[in-house]
Amino acid sequence: MTRARILSPTPENIAACADELRRGEIGGMPTETVYGLAGDGLNPLALTRVFDAKERPKFDPLILHVSPGLLRAGKYEKIQALENLGLVEASAIPSEARQAIEKLMDTFWPGPLTLVLPKLASVPDLATSGLPSVALRMPRHPVALALIDATQRPLAAPSANRFGRISPTRARHVVEELGERIGWVLDGGPCEIGVESTVVSYDPSGDFTLLRPGGLGAAEIEAILKVRLKTVNAPVIGPAGGPAGGPAASPGLLESHYAPAKPLRLLSAPLSALTDEQLKKEFQLAEPASDSRPWGFLAFAGDSQNISKRLSILAGRPVVVRTLSRDGSMMDAARSLFSELRALDASSAEYLWAEPPSDAVSTGGIGYAIQDRLKRASAKRR
Ligand code: TXA
Ligand code: MG
Repeated sequence: MTRARILSPTPENIAACADELRRGEIGGMPTETVYGLAGDGLNPLALTRVFDAKERPKFDPLILHVSPGLLRAGKYEKIQALENLGLVEASAIPSEARQAIEKLMDTFWPGPLTLVLPKLASVPDLATSGLPSVALRMPRHPVALALIDATQRPLAAPSANRFGRISPTRARHVVEELGERIGWVLDGGPCEIGVESTVVSYDPSGDFTLLRPGGLGAAEIEAILKVRLKTVNAPVIGPAGGPAGGPAASPGLLESHYAPAKPLRLLSAPLSALTDEQLKKEFQLAEPASDSRPWGFLAFAGDSQNISKRLSILAGRPVVVRTLSRDGSMMDAARSLFSELRALDASSAEYLWAEPPSDAVSTGGIGYAIQDRLKRASAKRR
């Protein structure tokens, strides 16, 4: 296959891509979180192509993306509409929970919230990895919504990167990742949020569980549900004090993920909290530490040249610094996280470092999602 074409999102191009999707082909789709690799969520052939292009293991289930047009919103309650489409077994959800879920959808859809709900048999097992539940999201990027409307199908769309690698937040990142394996990517510009959606599951025992922190803060969800979200045992994202309890409930929550090709190490604390002595010690943990090739460093804020000066002296080699925001805004940092990590990966640096966000963990906000991604990006690879 030739290299994927980057298409501007004209009505003609969207209609042509929708035709391809209806024929079981796959392609790149912008969303407000990250770019997705879209395929007809009800067509096993398309789903197989999605898994193959990403080299994604079949045990990691996909999110199906819907639009107001597909749900004929306004005419039906959203859960009812999802049942009409053959996706959700609404009758398996008791009425109180059903009202809570409907409220979540009314409040946060379209937007970066994915809900995992009991599924109907008509959802292909490939989409859900054989689980009795299906993950659903209504993105808010206008190009994604237009593509779903034109296709008239729920679109499966995992992040459009090869499995385990950095998620794409620009159309050209999709070409870098999957360019030889797909025909096109619709260009929706840089992603507005920059980290993936927050994934929350409802299970028939009545619990709501945070499976993946993301673009929507847990506190905002809890304010609507008026209950605390449960957390799962994902070894690298335990809240401040350490890993949370319970079995891993989301198969996709692998420890190493979002990873650059180069080794990445996360400092134990933000730069501003470390003395020169402490930093020097942490730098000595780098493998290999012996040569003098440049390092890359991902900082949250500050003047990159000043930071570079300090770090180069302590590291005894040039340190290329990229910053994620002007003033420490976590929203800005999320937006540039993956593209800056990708830029460092492509730079001359041989070894990468990052500092953790300072306000991250307790708040459960977007800083928490950034921390989660950095921990996985720096986790030991198998
Ligand atoms: O922001 C996003 O969600 C992006 C954009 C493209 O929409 N998509 C995305 O998809 O991040 P993906 O496939 O990379 O992540 C899907 C996550 C995985 O962690 C997966 O394990 C979880 O959702 N998931 C999907 N179905 C599930 C299910 N039935 N039960 C539990 N977890 C599920
Ligand atoms: Mg992904």
